[in-house]
Amino acid sequence: MNILILGSGGREHALAWAVKQNPKCDRLIVAPGNAGIAAHAECATLNIESGPDVVEFAQSQSIDFVIIGPEAPLAAGVADDLRAAGFLTFGPSQAAAALEASKSFTKEVCDAANAPTAAYGHFKDKDAALAYVREQGAPIVIKADGLAAGKGVIVAMDLATAEAALDDMFGGAFGGAGAEVVIEEFMEGEEASYFVLCDGETVLPIGTAQDHKRVGDGDTGPNTGGMGAYSPAPVLTDEIAHKAIEEIVKPTMRVMAQRGMPYQGVLYVGLMIQNGQPRLVEYNVRFGDPECQVLMMRLGAQALDLLLAAANGTLDQAQVNWADDHAVTVVYAANGYPGSYEKGTEIKGLEALPEDSMNMVFHAGTKMIDGVLCAVGGRVLNVTARGATLKEAKDRAYASLDQIDWPDGFYRTDIGWRAL
Ligand code: AMP
Ligand code: GLY
Repeated sequence: MNILILGSGGREHALAWAVKQNPKCDRLIVAPGNAGIAAHAECATLNIESGPDVVEFAQSQSIDFVIIGPEAPLAAGVADDLRAAGFLTFGPSQAAAALEASKSFTKEVCDAANAPTAAYGHFKDKDAALAYVREQGAPIVIKADGLAAGKGVIVAMDLATAEAALDDMFGGAFGGAGAEVVIEEFMEGEEASYFVLCDGETVLPIGTAQDHKRVGDGDTGPNTGGMGAYSPAPVLTDEIAHKAIEEIVKPTMRVMAQRGMPYQGVLYVGLMIQNGQPRLVEYNVRFGDPECQVLMMRLGAQALDLLLAAANGTLDQAQVNWADDHAVTVVYAANGYPGSYEKGTEIKGLEALPEDSMNMVFHAGTKMIDGVLCAVGGRVLNVTARGATLKEAKDRAYASLDQIDWPDGFYRTDIGWRAL
């Protein structure tokens, strides 16, 4: 098979690494890819948010299967264009991608599905939103309705913060994404993510993970896209995971199918767990980054068979073969991230590191510049390891980190601490 993966982050590197190990994969192209992905696949320049461009490229390369990594091409309808042109494609339609692209859509679908989630209000008007916030009181959560690159959620512990967030959003701080807001009840508990594949009908769980969103050790400092992750997530016990599937995921999938927008792809189910009860925080219509890195580390080559089954509508016959293992990924980020940071700094020491089924360094923001490996993003490397226990995986990942020579980067030293 000729396979095309769209995206350029650590998530896509992990997908490429897993897919490439499967004997079904003859040729692998990742567009646009990065310096690490280039070790497993051909990288190609392509505007991945343009359906016509992607279709033309897939035709020119005789592609048999397309895997869409990030949310932006999904929200832009690239999966629809590919399927219309006859390409087997992993990823939801534009209509179904609203489960990530619109928070009010998701809340309304949860209402229809009777899925446990935070109580909410949906506003297009600032005065009405302010009145609701004052009536509900703090803590309260203010969300821009649309895609805001992970920055559109303000957890306001006091009223002044909530009011300032509304000023920002209705003032255009998030562009069109903030023209409507969802205001939610603040949920307490522990967060975990559940990843399930869906083919429009069947739901197949493929793993749990927890990430660390704050930049600093001990979960302190500003929010980021994720500084590390581990799988499995012990807080998602079998019983809670079962509840999440039966009470949240399956009813949502039924509502989506009834509305003529069956969901096909991976569903990232963000949960808040309190007193044994899971509630939905959010859906994403793609793998998490860096959660995908730990999931792929654990799934390996079978990931391709599972993604194919989701795309083909044969998930009812698919099976996940789990090893009783753990995986950890630690994000090596550029100094200054999530604020401003320098680009083009040199990274050394990766050649000496083992790359095998227990150890992988997935690249997120790297580029070869004049034969030198350089950091060109905020989150740059995902140092990932597997082990029989979480502690073993963690020790292995940190032993690799020790050997990387990149004075312009930093990482958290405590990934996995809650579970350990
Ligand atoms: P989201 O983009 O919806 O995942 O929100 C980002 C983060 O904000 C989540 O991972 C939670 O930590 C937090 N969050 C979102 N909604 C709520 C809520 N209703 N209650 C408490 N925390 C929330
Ligand atoms: N790590 C969180 C996300 O991918 O949205």
